[in-house]
Amino acid sequence: MEHVILDVDTGIDDALAIAYAVHSPELNILGITTSFGNVSEKEATRNTLQVLDVLNVESEILVIPGADKPLAGTHIKAKATSIHGEDGLGNSGLPLPERKPLPSEAADFIIEQVKQHPHQVTVIAVGPQTNIATAIKKDPDIVNLAKRVVIMGGAVTVPGNVTPHAEANIYADPEAASVLFKSGMPVTLVGLDVTMQTLLSSEQVSKWSNVKSAYNEFLQTICNYYIDAYHQFDSSLGGCALHDPLAVGVLIDPSFVKTVPMHVEVDLERGESLGNTHEVKQGMRNVDVCLEIDVDRFVSHFLQRIT
Ligand code: BDR
Ligand code: CA
Repeated sequence: MEHVILDVDTGIDDALAIAYAVHSPELNILGITTSFGNVSEKEATRNTLQVLDVLNVESEILVIPGADKPLAGTHIKAKATSIHGEDGLGNSGLPLPERKPLPSEAADFIIEQVKQHPHQVTVIAVGPQTNIATAIKKDPDIVNLAKRVVIMGGAVTVPGNVTPHAEANIYADPEAASVLFKSGMPVTLVGLDVTMQTLLSSEQVSKWSNVKSAYNEFLQTICNYYIDAYHQFDSSLGGCALHDPLAVGVLIDPSFVKTVPMHVEVDLERGESLGNTHEVKQGMRNVDVCLEIDVDRFVSHFLQRIT
């Protein structure tokens, strides 16, 4: 079993990634750390707890609050309510969570777990990379002790989604991405290069089980909301992208994708290319970039696990 920490900014696809991870026996979830991003950090923590409640997870999964702002101190990117709803979960109206977060801090939790399980912990970061960058800055020893970081973020060969040049998670905290890329920690980048191909359509959602359960209703509500939002963003797509679930999928079955080692840098200058992730031909290869994907095999695996 892979020891993982899921690092989330719980909006809709983060919720789907949590459901996928929880339903995957290959993964031992040490904890879920939260950050600002799609919503505020407080909302991301609440949403994560609500998702675990509705998933009816019996085992105790720790939820640890983290960054409420980027490393540079002020927010660059607004919350993503137009894609994820006012509450970040498609306005699904879930009851307030019964579970409580740990009275700890995400970066400290990452450091502690990496040191407790040397060379075994993979962080799957599907929001801005602020928590992992903070952990690296606080205790650089973890760079050689963590197994890997798989991030959903960036766009190396395709345009951005939040600006023409940048992907949302990187744009939200470009300094954090840069700290991670320069750290020497092994990184797999699951970016828009592959995630924009993983589309879930309303036809697929309509075929889901009609068994009445809070979980089924929740899944259908969030997916239909997300599909509508994507339709308004670009009606030619025909579905919503399974960004964050793919980062989980790549860890469960690396053969879903093909990766290419590259030297990747992030633009930090406050201009139109802020947050752009691009290959630099010189320099040590620091990131395995996912460039090809077996879409059908991944999407069926994801659907089989979560429904
Ligand atoms: C990423 O940004 C967020 O809106 C999603 O949850 C995903 O992590 C896609 O660019
Ligand atoms: Ca996310």
